[in-house]
Amino acid sequence: MTKVLTAVAWPYANGPRHIGHVAGFGVPSDVFSRYMRMAGHDVLMVSGTDEHGTPILVAADAAGVTARELADENNRVIVQDLHDLGLSYDLFTRTTTRNHYAVAQEMFRTVQRNGYLVEQTTHGAVSPSTGRTLPDRYIEGTCPICGYDSARGDQCDNCGNQLDPTDLIEPRSKINGETPKFVETQHWFLDLPALAAALKKWLDEREATGLWRPNVIRFSQNILEEIKPRSMTRDIDWGIPVPGWEDQPTKRLYVWFDAVIGYLSASVEWARRLGDADRWREWWDDPEALSYYFMGKDNITFHSQIWPAELLAYNGKGDKGGEPGEYGELNLPTEVVSSEFLTMEGKQFSSSRGVVIYVRDVLARYQPDALRYFISAAGPENQDSNFTWAEFVRRTNDELVAGWGNLLNRTATLIAKNFGEIPEAGEPTAEDRVLLETVEAAFTTVGGLIERHRQKAALAEAMRTVAEVNRYVSDSAPWQLKGDDQRARLGTVLHVMAQAVADCNVLLSPFLPHSANDVDRVLGGVGDVAPMPEIREVEDLDGGPAYPILTGEYSAAPRWERKPVVPGTKVGKPAPVFRKLDPSVVDEELARLQASAS
Ligand code: MF3
Ligand code: ZN
Repeated sequence: MTKVLTAVAWPYANGPRHIGHVAGFGVPSDVFSRYMRMAGHDVLMVSGTDEHGTPILVAADAAGVTARELADENNRVIVQDLHDLGLSYDLFTRTTTRNHYAVAQEMFRTVQRNGYLVEQTTHGAVSPSTGRTLPDRYIEGTCPICGYDSARGDQCDNCGNQLDPTDLIEPRSKINGETPKFVETQHWFLDLPALAAALKKWLDEREATGLWRPNVIRFSQNILEEIKPRSMTRDIDWGIPVPGWEDQPTKRLYVWFDAVIGYLSASVEWARRLGDADRWREWWDDPEALSYYFMGKDNITFHSQIWPAELLAYNGKGDKGGEPGEYGELNLPTEVVSSEFLTMEGKQFSSSRGVVIYVRDVLARYQPDALRYFISAAGPENQDSNFTWAEFVRRTNDELVAGWGNLLNRTATLIAKNFGEIPEAGEPTAEDRVLLETVEAAFTTVGGLIERHRQKAALAEAMRTVAEVNRYVSDSAPWQLKGDDQRARLGTVLHVMAQAVADCNVLLSPFLPHSANDVDRVLGGVGDVAPMPEIREVEDLDGGPAYPILTGEYSAAPRWERKPVVPGTKVGKPAPVFRKLDPSVVDEELARLQASAS
């Protein structure tokens, strides 16, 4: 039993999340975690809302509320969405807990003590007309690396490189277009060049495993060539106080410095809530433990360079040496599992321009598993992909309803009508045996593909298995098996069908957890194939304000293997598990999009 950390990117709490976000970090990390638990591993899946940084401040300004109020509100919305999608976090918390502050500050202090944080005078942007600090994200200009003309002060969305506002050619304020003034200011810089050799060694080892997606490893190695010190503090009054600079409330830790530490602090919080405060160490201090980080591609830099650099610096493993702090020598990521981007009707998502489909709007109108299915089958796993309502309706109706739903329906209806319970199997024919072997073999193929983060192929394999079972049903034509002399054969066919459907249900359960429980109930079970997360209101462990967390008890998930169906289990006339969508949905949704776009 391996310890597996599923580290899921922390959604910004500056607004509700859209389906592009959950396609990037949400559904893939949950499919993986659900499968790994069923395969017998000890999974710890953590994340939370990312609540610091300028995006929150600017959104709060616009809404006329404090950053804290805005974060509180969006944290709740996001927790509810992720819950409703069935994402099985062991802990989904937030970056504004006292526990997170303490862990982030301990990291900062140790990295500083080891010599990897260097104080430097730099230039901060100020708006000449208002005299206020201009946040990095609100400075635009031309990227010095690729020439893209709308690069932001913190990052270029075209080439993905991390930038400083002073790097931009012809910088301008996104708020009012004026040219920012740069004034002197002090900051702590992470000495990335002193960590470059260690980072390279780690990346080379990772590359040698052949497991990382080629574009992720290539991108990560490329950005090593441009490596330079990065400021880990900001001129901003919202964020984690900088150790040693407590008397300067307008200087805080850089949001990305603290956000990535969330993976560790959430693990610590999880253990503390369990009443076993050191338990997190099994995932972080044991070199045998594995860790998988799930995100969209705009996050790669922070997970394949900044976070490992923080860890190496904390461990004292860069050119300057050093000693680990109280958390011990921490594991670097096993794999950065990054997806590409999802577009919508051919356009980039943009909340500000109203080109957006929010998770909660989809969940209010459609089944969560219909969205999960689309994302798993057609999401941006290895290349950008496009969400269209027409394709959503088509996949739901033709694949979920007509493929899997219909098989379940035929099976349960025939059993209910002819026996009212799962019948005993008689002597199997060659066809029966071949089908059951085919289905059982799918556990190995589908599981192997999920383990290697090839979820599209895994789902395709599972659906191919469903199609095989559908074909077996057509070939066996149980509806023609009439009369006493054929009753035994009818029982055998229906038993085989019940077994095959139960197996397919387990195979599909990481992708379709809600319906897996419904399917289980149709087949006479109690609906416990896929354990679900719950929202719990908790006290802050160190006296801060209370907040909601997502957590769950997932250890009762069935094993990733055939579980023999039990003859005599009652099966009644089934209610449909999947809802067929009317084609008019497409026009309705397109009209909605049109109305919201500006
Ligand atoms: N909030 C960031 C985003 O939405 C992701 C942060 S991931 C973390 O892009 F690990 F750094 F928290
Ligand atoms: Zn660029």
